[in-house]
Amino acid sequence: MLSDEDNELLTRVGPGTPMGEVLRHYWHPVLLSSELAEPDGPPLRVRLLGEDLVAFRDTSGNVGMLDIHCAHRGAPLVYGRNEEGGLRCVYHGWKYDACGNCVDMPNEPPTSRFHEKIKQLAYPCRERGGVIWTYIGRASAPPDLPALEWLGLTDSQRYSSKRLQYCNWVQALEGEIDQSHVSFAHRRLDGTTGSGRANVDRYRTVDTHPHFEALDTEYGVLIGAGRRAEEGSSYWRITQFVMPFWAMTGPYGENPTRHNRAWVPMDDDHTMMLSVTFHPLRDLQEAEIEKMRRGGGAGYVGEGKFLPPNAEPGGAWRPKVGRENNYLWSQDLQKTQFYSGFPDFWAQDAAMQEGMGPIYQRRKEHLGTSDLGIIRVRQRLLGAAKALRDDGTPPPAALQPELYSVRGAAVLLSEGESWVDATTEHRAAIPGTNPAGV
Ligand code: FES
Ligand SMILES: [Fe+2]
Repeated sequence: MLSDEDNELLTRVGPGTPMGEVLRHYWHPVLLSSELAEPDGPPLRVRLLGEDLVAFRDTSGNVGMLDIHCAHRGAPLVYGRNEEGGLRCVYHGWKYDACGNCVDMPNEPPTSRFHEKIKQLAYPCRERGGVIWTYIGRASAPPDLPALEWLGLTDSQRYSSKRLQYCNWVQALEGEIDQSHVSFAHRRLDGTTGSGRANVDRYRTVDTHPHFEALDTEYGVLIGAGRRAEEGSSYWRITQFVMPFWAMTGPYGENPTRHNRAWVPMDDDHTMMLSVTFHPLRDLQEAEIEKMRRGGGAGYVGEGKFLPPNAEPGGAWRPKVGRENNYLWSQDLQKTQFYSGFPDFWAQDAAMQEGMGPIYQRRKEHLGTSDLGIIRVRQRLLGAAKALRDDGTPPPAALQPELYSVRGAAVLLSEGESWVDATTEHRAAIPGTNPAGV
């Protein structure tokens, strides 16, 4: 459990909150490049850490990320005219470039130099890996983008999608690093768990109480979950939590595809999940992409399974399946097919995490041995917030983008082998390598 004070510290992300300040030390993946496809195309609302922003792609293809409220009298720039190298407010015509410079002020006399004094709040953006990143921290020179493995791959080696989740980012992230729920929430009554691997499904359904260990790393927490496997061996799934909201889970089988997910806080009770599946050595195959497009495999919602886009932030990523329709839960399904009663893999997670309420009050919880990884991740996040608040210490890895070159792992080990020592090579994202999972 957490005290109310620590729960507030852990979960709140707005400007001036201790955790909000921690998060503002990192680059945030906010949009897929395809969401701002065309130069001079329509601007988009973005909500990030409680701030309302507008994103646009200017005439030369650069992305601007501005405070949504015009510096003149606060009209919303999302309705602006995106033309000739800038976004022009339609209230009185003030125009801003992607850096926030006011480049035209047509309702003032032509001789006026007032526009030179005006600067719209603008955050730096980068575009890499098919993703638009923004940095809303205070550092005048932001660090490099995190050296995540998939940022160094080609477009055809990667598939990405997003999903809006209606709850606080920490309870969503906690679901991702929790190996224990897999034996229950994702179990099918035919004995599988969505892994696509018969041996893994068997380990998960036979040993439902994995042994957890967790170690702090320079960049976050390394979480090992061991289950009994064949005679004399253990099955270890090793999850990387990487500050501040990244999770890398273990891969399946020979020459595996891999997954990274980010749980990006839009505000205190809305989270945007970015999921990226990639292969370090080859293009993704059409059949693999098709499966993810349909919503299979790695927990994607699937194309055609989102509500018609609305104009709100993240409005293109609202799943049709949700609380309003009970996530398609039925007792009949629960008796015949799915342990949980929810047919969609991703919804088996979302229904639990959103159902805790917008911000779960952790004073009410009762943590067991299977919650060890979650406890450690909370400690890491709370420690970062307190160290920054009390001593000004920059949070882990914020200034060391190279630390992000890590991987999740999955291995079978014989009795007595150390899961840490045995997986050193599995956990390093070395270009040109791709160790097997299980
Ligand atoms: S409020 Fe934007 S130009 Fe006046
Ligand atoms: Fe899950």
